[in-house]
Amino acid sequence: MESRHTVSRDPADAGADFDRLRNDFTRFMMSYKFGIDELMTKINILKEEFTHIHRYSPIEHVGSRLKTPESIVAKARRKECPLTLDDIRTNIVDIAGIRITCSFISDTYRIADMLSGQTDVKVLEVKDYIAEPKPNGYKSLHLIVEIPVFMSDRVQPVPVELQIRTIAMDFWASLEHKIFYKYGGTIPAPLLDELKDAADSANRLDVTMERLHDEVAEIKSGRDASAESIHLDSMPPLALPRELLMSILEAGNIARPL
Ligand code: GTP
Ligand code: MG
Repeated sequence: MESRHTVSRDPADAGADFDRLRNDFTRFMMSYKFGIDELMTKINILKEEFTHIHRYSPIEHVGSRLKTPESIVAKARRKECPLTLDDIRTNIVDIAGIRITCSFISDTYRIADMLSGQTDVKVLEVKDYIAEPKPNGYKSLHLIVEIPVFMSDRVQPVPVELQIRTIAMDFWASLEHKIFYKYGGTIPAPLLDELKDAADSANRLDVTMERLHDEVAEIKSGRDASAESIHLDSMPPLALPRELLMSILEAGNIARPL
């Protein structure tokens, strides 16, 4: 009787542990998803503000990804990290990832500075592979930032890996990634040399494009750039009729409450 009781309790305990782990793991994964959501909002605010106020956005494209539970556990095993959620949170900082593609090299630093400067964003690590490319030619600005996520019962600081690069750097990295996997991680030497040459060409293109952009910006600065029509895909231009603005001006000062 007693032994039967013991036997029948063990599976129940195991079941309770399993349910607890499933809940904790779900909350763990959710926190990273929310971390991405929070940062994406910040990035989209910058993008829209630039587009509407400055009529130019340094951000071309933004993408995000969440590591799968399988790939998190595989990385933890590779890094010999104990399989507890606390250890994983501390040791694996690329569970949440955001990639920002910019037009020009200077924009990558500009975006990094704007995000790093926000009071609720804490920079944990910076790896500047633009200033110091990897030997294979890889270039990108990597930041690990921590952002607080406000849950129902606590505030969870969440690390997010930010990769900021130009279109040319992104083009190169995507192709190198495909080639890397095609050859199972060991790229033949001649192909490595060609990839390095391609990275150098991509960099020359980046430098030339930035110089041309600066020249055009100088020519345009003398003109009223805002008079030109631009395509806004995220939000239609705000309707601010002249009569409305005039009536506000006549009423006194825009700084006064409306
Ligand atoms: P991981 O363990 O892979 O996260 O490396 P790490 O902790 O040394 O970080 P690192 O900042 O070097 O790289 C992180 C991420 O940058 C990778 O997961 C890739 O997405 C990207 N990356 C780094 N090096 C390369 C490269 O040589 N080629 C490509 N295509 N991507 C790279
Ligand atoms: Mg990684």
